[in-house]
Amino acid sequence: MSDSQQPPAVIADLGTIVDQVRTDPDSLIQYGRDWTRFYPPRPSAIVFPKSSRQVRRLVHYANTYHLPLVPSGGRTGLSAAAVASHGEVVVSFERMNRIIAYNERDQIVTCEPGVVTQALQDYAREQGLFYPVDFASRGSSQIGGNIATNAGGIRVIRYGLTRDWIAGLKVVTGAGELLNLNRGLVKNATGYDLRHLFIGSEGTLGLIVEATVKLTHPPRELSVMVLGVTALEGLMAVFEACRRQLTLTAFEFFSELALEHVLAKGLPRPFETETPYYLLVEFEHGSAADAETALGIFEHCLERNWLTDGVISQSRTQAAELWRLREDISESIAHYPPYKNDISVRISRIPAFLREIDALLSDAYPDFPVVWYGHIGDGNLHINVLKPAALGLDAFLENCQRVTEMLFQTVQKYAGSISAEHGVGLLKKPYLHYTRDAAEIAYLRAMKRIFDPNGILNPGKLLD
Ligand code: MLT
Ligand code: ZN
Repeated sequence: MSDSQQPPAVIADLGTIVDQVRTDPDSLIQYGRDWTRFYPPRPSAIVFPKSSRQVRRLVHYANTYHLPLVPSGGRTGLSAAAVASHGEVVVSFERMNRIIAYNERDQIVTCEPGVVTQALQDYAREQGLFYPVDFASRGSSQIGGNIATNAGGIRVIRYGLTRDWIAGLKVVTGAGELLNLNRGLVKNATGYDLRHLFIGSEGTLGLIVEATVKLTHPPRELSVMVLGVTALEGLMAVFEACRRQLTLTAFEFFSELALEHVLAKGLPRPFETETPYYLLVEFEHGSAADAETALGIFEHCLERNWLTDGVISQSRTQAAELWRLREDISESIAHYPPYKNDISVRISRIPAFLREIDALLSDAYPDFPVVWYGHIGDGNLHINVLKPAALGLDAFLENCQRVTEMLFQTVQKYAGSISAEHGVGLLKKPYLHYTRDAAEIAYLRAMKRIFDPNGILNPGKLLD
């Protein structure tokens, strides 16, 4: 990977290929990074293609001049997959943001990669339908980035990942070919499904220039409970009680420390009682019987001392307010900055896994605040270590990396993932072997060489 800025003549040529090229210092910083703060943004330029034709020409040019390209969506990633800190050219898709077509009978919408997640959700709603993949960054993340990272979020328990909603993809490979994959089909048993190879590939194999997305019917009314949990052991006991009787659309948790950070931003406590952990449970509420079932579950859990208090939404407004207690956590701690761990194990292993990593982290980070939250109904925990103000960024990072090795050894022991939904990027690249074995990584490298023979696409990310 080249560390240097690209020659001015090369950058000038880019202006003949794409709609706009920017090299002003503010844009270089803004487009050269995502939400991670450990890598200085140092791109050579940002280019804004307007069409797949321009993207293809750009890729051909990049192959000719060995120009490293970093694809860029809403840059809300948390693993530095969209960071450009070695003189790369950032390819922003924000001008490729059109909804191209909607097919009512097929219930699919075809769009460009720069469509913002919320715009797609709103578009689906206007058609009386629903795009269910959702997360707090919905207002700025883009569908292309969601596909490149196989984004998850808050409703995976009911609706699955981005992967489950992509019926077709057009991509320009690193070799410059335009592939039209799966073409919106529901069934297509014609061998390797390359669509799924590109989903989650973090821009290392190809640039997504068009996506065909499935829509579905909206859920019935949703209710939200926030529950105060007395101890780690109670989290999955409550989960078992809820999922047997309710149609869950989200099952999230957060710690008291996480809640305190959100409350500091001016939100009210959900109830008076302070507990070490909280659950946010969202479920479909079709009739009065569902509310009674929820109440019955609450009482069942209270009797067993898994819970001490709770609240259930009485209106959509109240449900939205309760959601903020969970969704605003990430932003409320962003300034520290946090060192993020985004890990998962099978849900059956969560109780034993939680016990083990709780002991490990209390021991390893006696002086650093550790904020816990996540999509525990998916077996996915977000463990955020906060940087003490007096400690330098490098020393903090070094410390976290040391503990991360121990944490990931435990993840490996439980056959879990070192990155459940945030991706690998630069931040988790050194740890890939804890989740993927050597033979598998060798196949991944071989695939990279096939689709991107000159290594121009997002070099240094995911794999070396
Ligand atoms: C979340 O679940 O809030 C997101 O994955 C962001 C984060 O982990 O901070
Ligand atoms: Zn998350």
